[in-house]
Amino acid sequence: MRTPFIAGNWKMHKNLVEARELVAALRESSAGVAGVDVLLCPPAYLLFPLAKAVAGTDLMLGAQNVHEAPQGAFTGEHSVAMVADTGATYVIIGHSERRHVFGETNDQLNKKVRAVIAGGLQVIYCVGETLPQREAGKTQAVVDEQIDAVLAADVDAAKLTVAYEPVWAIGTGKTASPEQAQEVHAGIRTRLTGIYGAQAANAVRIQYGGSVKPGNAAALLAEPDIDGALVGGACLVAGDFAAIISAAAETVPAA
Ligand code: 13P
Repeated sequence: MRTPFIAGNWKMHKNLVEARELVAALRESSAGVAGVDVLLCPPAYLLFPLAKAVAGTDLMLGAQNVHEAPQGAFTGEHSVAMVADTGATYVIIGHSERRHVFGETNDQLNKKVRAVIAGGLQVIYCVGETLPQREAGKTQAVVDEQIDAVLAADVDAAKLTVAYEPVWAIGTGKTASPEQAQEVHAGIRTRLTGIYGAQAANAVRIQYGGSVKPGNAAALLAEPDIDGALVGGACLVAGDFAAIISAAAETVPAA
């Protein structure tokens, strides 16, 4: 049984006051929720103050990106060790906005994934096709290529979460149907099995991301290979994110 994993990607939203308010609300709403891992990925400058805000709770913190080098003349960037310094334990790598807006390549993402794991943190590695790629019937081929170029037997599967985020579903209100998402998630698990073997691949959590909302979370999370969600817009509203966390908790069998 894979523990459901709900992550909020805040992207470039929230100032310090707003961030503290959101965390305070989530502390309250998530206090009674058991059996779900919850991760908050705010803008990097908020990681230090929010480490204090989540202290004493099970809420975890992550960064949205990292540079692959340990230090150096990389204006505007931050290293894995800097993220670790804040107390954050995860880094999102390969988000479609990093790939498409900032031009990150599979080669660079491979280095980033390895740097994160070498630095003792965990990775959420994002994959997903564009609308033209889906319409051309290339979804699985695109996702397989993104996996093959970045993951390998020596990239520790125990430190890895994969997020399937179809680019056409991000911020558009168009969600992949549970069946569409499940099909790709199963394909991802098959690809991971080829790299890691069945036992390790079965333990990797695969999140779905792309317009996840309180109204569609339960149906998505009910699919056998959808182990959680990487939530954008809805994670900025405490009540919406809490409802998605609750939907994940509903999928956990009673002890
Ligand atoms: P939305 O939930 O706003 O579609 O964003 C998804 C996403 O990109 C999460 O990383």
